[in-house]
Order: sequence, then C-alpha cells, then structure tokens
Amino acid sequence: MLHSHLGLSLTCCAVLLVLASGSSSNLPIISFDEGYTQLFGDNNLALHGDGKSVHLSLDERTGSGFASQDLYLHGFFSASIKLPSDYTAGVVVAFYMSNGDMFEKNHDEIDFEFLGNIRGKDWRIQTNIYGNGSTGIGREERYGLWFDPADDFHQYGILWTDSQIVFYVDNVPIREVKRTEAMGGQFPSKPMSLYATIWDGSGWATNGGKYRVNYKYAPYVAKFSDLVLHGCAVDPIEHQSSCDGVPRHKAIPQGISPRQRTKMEHFRKKHMTYSYCYDKARYKVPPPECVINPGEAEHLRTFDPVTFGDGRHHRPKHHRQSRADASM
Ligand SMILES: *[C@@H]1O[C@H](CO)[C@@H](O)[C@H](O)[C@H]1NC(C)=O
Repeated sequence: MLHSHLGLSLTCCAVLLVLASGSSSNLPIISFDEGYTQLFGDNNLALHGDGKSVHLSLDERTGSGFASQDLYLHGFFSASIKLPSDYTAGVVVAFYMSNGDMFEKNHDEIDFEFLGNIRGKDWRIQTNIYGNGSTGIGREERYGLWFDPADDFHQYGILWTDSQIVFYVDNVPIREVKRTEAMGGQFPSKPMSLYATIWDGSGWATNGGKYRVNYKYAPYVAKFSDLVLHGCAVDPIEHQSSCDGVPRHKAIPQGISPRQRTKMEHFRKKHMTYSYCYDKARYKVPPPECVINPGEAEHLRTFDPVTFGDGRHHRPKHHRQSRADASM
C-alpha cells in the first residue's frame, strides 16, 4: 500500500511539472469519511492510509461496497483503482452512478464495470448508461486496456453534464455520449449517487457464466484511492442543487480537447471489443446517439465477424439482461 502510494504521488508531481493541462494531480481528493458511507459487506470494507483508501473484498460470505453520502446532478467523479490479480473469473468490480433506490421504475445509471477473468487473461472493462428506466435498451461497450489493471492503480473517471457523458481511463477519454434530442429521457438526467462495489457475478461475468468465482483464491480485494466527488450535491427531498459555491478546479475535465479526441479515436480503434452501436443483430437501426465511425466498424468486424459482420450469420445469444445483477 505504502509503496504504491509513494509511487503514485511521485508520478503525480512529475506529471504536474511536465504538463500544463490534463493532469490528474490537482484533483480535489477527499477521504472516505468526507464523502462516502458503507453500503454492505461489514468488515470486507477496510480503510487504509488515513482513510484515503478503501479496500473492498469479496469472500465466500459477502462482497462489499460503498456509496456517496450525497446525490449529485452532474459533475466529475473518479477513483484510482487497483483490481485483484491472478484468477478472478466471475468477480465483478463496479464503479458507477445510479438512483435505482429512489426511482424503481425510471432510474438512471452511468457504469464502469470491471469483469474478472481466468488466470493469464486480463480484466475487461465495460461501460453502459441507462436513462429514465431504459433497461430494455442496453448501451454497453467493452474494451481491453493497454495495461494490466491488476498491476497498479489507474484512474477511472466519469464526466457527466447536461449535454454529454465522457468515460476516462488515466485522462484518456474512451467513450463519449452526446445527448441528442431523440434520446429524450434516456439520457441520465436525475440526481444520482456514486457507488463502488465488488460482488460475485458468477452467473454472467466471464464467458456468459462459464467460469465461476473460485473461493479458493479469496479474498478478492479491489483497492480504491484518490477519490474525487466533484459535482453539484443535491438535496434528495427538495432536489435543490448547491452547485453555485463549488469552485472550478483546473484539473477537472470539462470535455474533450482535440488532442484527447485523437487519443480516444486511437484507443477505440485498437481496444474496443464490443459496441452496441455496431451490433446489427441487436439493433437493426442503431439507437439515435450512435455516431458510426468506419474505423471502429472495421476494427470490430475484424475482431468479431459474427457479431459485427454483415448480419447474415446466425449469432449465438450473447446479451443477457445483466441489469438486475449489475446494479447491486
Ligand atoms: C420518464 O418516464 C416516465 C414514465 O416511466 C414518463 O412519464 C416521463 O415522461 C419520462 N421522462 C422523460 C424525461 O422522458
């Protein structure tokens, strides 16, 4: 722990010196007690490093999780996360925003989901959004990463404004969802809490449930630090926002710069392994926010000709309804 923290802060300072913008070193980091509360898992949640890092474990008894004390309407939310290593099939780590406990029928959600894997294969990362209860329309994307997320801490961030949602990995935007009129309420637009959880996703996480969690390797520990909750906290009853007093932090991203956009395009052409926008068997017409990029289409067709090919193949079923599990 101490080691990686030292490593992180040294990296931060070096980055600060070198880069004028786009650095994460200046982010307004808070301690667990300042912004969060435990959700479940009794002592499978443990605080370290002056309460600035949180370890979430999964063992045969239970997973664990925490949630923000406040609800937020828009903002930037991030954490540095180090995932458990070795055999992690069936294990799911989720870092997401939701208001599912307040709006049962028409909730909103913005998700990072990390899906464990068998030994020797890296974690996969999935992003998704739901708006106003649009659980019938999955907007999943999946990606590999250019590093092993179990080797070290990496920053995962969500920028949510009234016009766009951007997912970041180490300051590289990996997905942008622009709000379009046609999306209507399916663009998340009600206050949400931020959640982090680890749980047993044996039923679907790895090859559709083929590999289950093996508790011989437990506990599985996901480590969270550098917690950032930078948004407009909202009173859950009055729905009044206390946004006006929030100072602008230079390190908080506001959108995608041209340089970042180039990086995003590069990432998607190389590391994306699934996108609902290109899955013709699932959506004959891509949902309205989809912007079809020929490079991405070509990459996905090469990666998985059955799912992203010309649609003449019979595609095996692939897309379980994961929502009930994933929002836990
Ligand atoms: C959200 O869904 C409810 C019904 O579940 C509907 O009455 C409402 O108009 C929707 N809101 C938006 C913004 O689409």
